[in-house]
This record gives sequence, structure tokens and C-alpha cells, in this order.
Amino acid sequence: MSVTIELKSNKVTVAVMRKMKATGEKISMLTAYDFTMASLLDQGGVDVILVGDSAGNVMAGYDTTLPVTLDQMIYHGASVRRGVKRALLVVDMPFGTCCGNPYDSLANAVAIMKGTGAEALKIEGGEELLPDIKKIIAAGIPVMGHLGLMPQSVHRYGGFGLRAQSEAEAEKLRRDALLLQEAGCFAITLEKIPAGLAGEIAASLSIPIIGIGAGGNVDGQVLVVHDLLGMNRDFSPKFVRKYADLYSIITEAVSGYVSDVKSIKFPSQDEWY
Ligand code: KIV
Repeated sequence: MSVTIELKSNKVTVAVMRKMKATGEKISMLTAYDFTMASLLDQGGVDVILVGDSAGNVMAGYDTTLPVTLDQMIYHGASVRRGVKRALLVVDMPFGTCCGNPYDSLANAVAIMKGTGAEALKIEGGEELLPDIKKIIAAGIPVMGHLGLMPQSVHRYGGFGLRAQSEAEAEKLRRDALLLQEAGCFAITLEKIPAGLAGEIAASLSIPIIGIGAGGNVDGQVLVVHDLLGMNRDFSPKFVRKYADLYSIITEAVSGYVSDVKSIKFPSQDEWY
């Protein structure tokens, strides 16, 4: 029995991303963790939807992404899948699921692909993880690399500060990016590094470089959707632009509802059966 996958003509694929890099069209990417938000982002026209392990921060309230499990990523990924038609769907491999045993890493990658319907995976790490990444790519799974600030390595760095400020770290990053391209990654996310270095890497590689806190001379941008929508008053780093103030909109809506319930203004008779 043959299965035909019908792709809509405007569907974003890894090949479309390659073309966008070649033609200079910038790539927009946002995170999503649930069906409703994913549908909104897809209808808003975002090119790539990432089910980030930042789910651990914005959905679960952890301080780091380390506690996030494979099963939790599969749950979020499958929920997002049902809301996405056009965007390329990428799911993060969470901490500890791709770390030095290529056969285990492949089994985890396959579990995410099967359990979510994702079209690609994102993996934090460079040269140290090349055998794992190559194994996953060899199985037909597109991989987006992630370098610079890698939140899964927060305890190695001692915080979430700007990375690659020393020439030694910048040189390792340049080398890791090239190795990821040579290993077959279709794109790389660069997080929180100097804009000059990110622009240099984007200019020297043929695969798209998506930046977050990495300046404007890259091939695309990614933000956590809760940051872009202004849902959190306690997190306002320089690289986040808030396109809405949902914190105020939601808290005002909730306090309006509470006040209407208390004063018996809700429900009114035309809202009864
Ligand atoms: O997990 C995530 O949301 C990410 C983005 C910040 C790139 O990796």
C-alpha cells in the first residue's frame, strides 16, 4: 500500500527554508505548546513553529528546561501538530535525550517523530553530539542545530548570559556551526551571542541561521510566543519585542469577570437557557 503525502503549495518544508535563505527572504519562527496557540500562529502566517523545551518555563513554571521529559515534549508536540497546516513543525529534543549514545538518541528521536507528527527536531549542542546528530539525520529526520546560549547547559555556564564573548568561545562556535552544516543539519538556531559573530556565521554558511538575541544579520528570527505577546511582566530582556500586552488584557478581562460574578451582572437573562 502506498501512502501519498499531499503538501499544500504554500507548505513550509526544509527545502522551502533552503530557498528562503538563497533568495534572502527572512524566516519567522515562534514557539507553541498547545493546539489553540499553534492554530493562531499558523493562521498568522509564521513560517516555522517550534515546540520548544521552553515549555518547561512558560507552561510548567520551572526555572530551567532540565526537568522537561520526552513524554511531555510528545504531548505538547502532538497537541501543536493538530493546529498546524502551513508552518514547518519542529520539536526540541529535551535534556538528556540526545547526549552521547547515538542509538539511544535515535530511539528518542524516532519516538518524538512518531508520537507528534513533527517534520524536524532541534538539538542543542555542537561537535560533541555529531555522532548522535549524524545517526538521526541518517534515519531521514531533518535536524536543526542550536548553538550559543544552550539553556540545557545552564549549569555548565552558571547562568543565561551572553555567550561567545571570548575569542576562544567564538572560534568554537564558528567551528561547531560548520560541523553541523557538514553533518547535514538543515538550519541552526543561534541564541544570545554578539550580532557581529552571528552575522559572520550566517554569511559563511549555506543553511539558514535563525537568531534569538543574535542581531539582525541572520536569516530569520525566533521568539518564545509568550514573550512576543507580553504575557509575562517579569521577563523583559533586550532582545524581546512585545507585540501585545496580553498581561494587561488578560488580567483586566479576568477582573471584569470576577466583578460581574460577584455583583450578579453575569450571567444576564439573555445568557440563560
Ligand atoms: O525552547 C525554546 O523555546 C528554544 C527557543 C528559545 C529557540 O529553544
